Amino acid sequence: MNPELQPDFSLAGEDKIFKKMIKLTVGMMEESKNGCPLRVQHAKAAACVTANFEIAPDIPAELQHGVFSQAGQTFEAIVRFSTAQGKIQPDSDPTALGLAIKLLDVDGPRAIPGDPDQTQDFLFVDHPVFPFPNAKAYRNVIKYKSVPVIGDILAFIYLQVFAPDQLAVVQEIRNKTAASPLNSIYWSGSPYWLGNAANTTGQAVKYSAVPSTVTAGPDNPDDLPDDYLRDAVTKQLAEKEVVFDIKVQPQGDPEKMPIEDTSVAWDEQESVPVKVATLRIHKQTVTSNSALEQRCEDMSFNPWHALKEHRPLGGINRLRKAVYEASFIERKQRKGTASSDPRKD
Ligand code: HEM
Repeated sequence: MNPELQPDFSLAGEDKIFKKMIKLTVGMMEESKNGCPLRVQHAKAAACVTANFEIAPDIPAELQHGVFSQAGQTFEAIVRFSTAQGKIQPDSDPTALGLAIKLLDVDGPRAIPGDPDQTQDFLFVDHPVFPFPNAKAYRNVIKYKSVPVIGDILAFIYLQVFAPDQLAVVQEIRNKTAASPLNSIYWSGSPYWLGNAANTTGQAVKYSAVPSTVTAGPDNPDDLPDDYLRDAVTKQLAEKEVVFDIKVQPQGDPEKMPIEDTSVAWDEQESVPVKVATLRIHKQTVTSNSALEQRCEDMSFNPWHALKEHRPLGGINRLRKAVYEASFIERKQRKGTASSDPRKD
């Protein structure tokens, strides 16, 4: 088996990069106007909502692992839609949209041994690739971006001079506008193991979430209210439920569909994504400052909140293992109340 699929795979020197990234990331944490510590990325919630995650009845045998081995089963889920910056900005500010899904009451051996959690998280953004191939490339950018006041300009100059391909993807992401988080397509960007817990049978996959209706974004989002994405979700869910197809894209040729380079798109013609579940977001009243919204703000969505059968793969995900935990602990310490149990805070 490809060594990159083994649980203990790592690249020389990456631990040092991860430590540096924890320091830089935590150092960039901001607070809301009322003094609440914000996520370092995806700080602004467009909405936090409840949903059902229904496993499809007809999944191909080779993809029936983890939660996808339970044909027809429905999991309760909490879903947070977000915009990607670490600040609370008007929704017209160019950035990626995030979709974080947390399945509740999921039994089975955990991706991180000893993890007491019983949740399975899936994280996505509305672009098929992450702009940076690996942890080192991302660290190079964050090193500049974390400089107070002029960080964004320094990062832009660095990318323009040394990594124009990465800058082109950043700009592609920033040039998109969305009419509603409920009408955009999302991708995991990074790969995951989908196989047995013993790691002997299975494959690498990427995920996507495709809504039943995809709409074009507004031409002039600046003319819309600062929270127009929240307004759109509120209006749509007051009227009816919204459904996404959750799809799995198995890895094909590992040269063309690499594990260790998240800047390479896996061609969806060459390996066609297969529907494995339906995310059914209930018709509901979305209210800012509701108990559910507050619970979501206190929670941690993290790709490593996972069963062994859904273990994250690749260097960008190994980096995320270090950074999400550190970001959450810092938020918790500054606030003093958050809990990792999604039902008890
Ligand atoms: C394909 C790559 C990635 C995707 C799809 C992704 C997606 C997301 C999403 C959707 C969220 C919001 C979760 C929520 O609603 O709580 C998030 C949060 C976050 N992301 Fe990522 N992300 C990626 C890569 C990274 C990398 C490489 C880093 C490393 C610095 C990172 C750092 C963070 C942090 C610090 C948070 C906030 C965590 C917290 O405080 O709970 N992300 N990401």
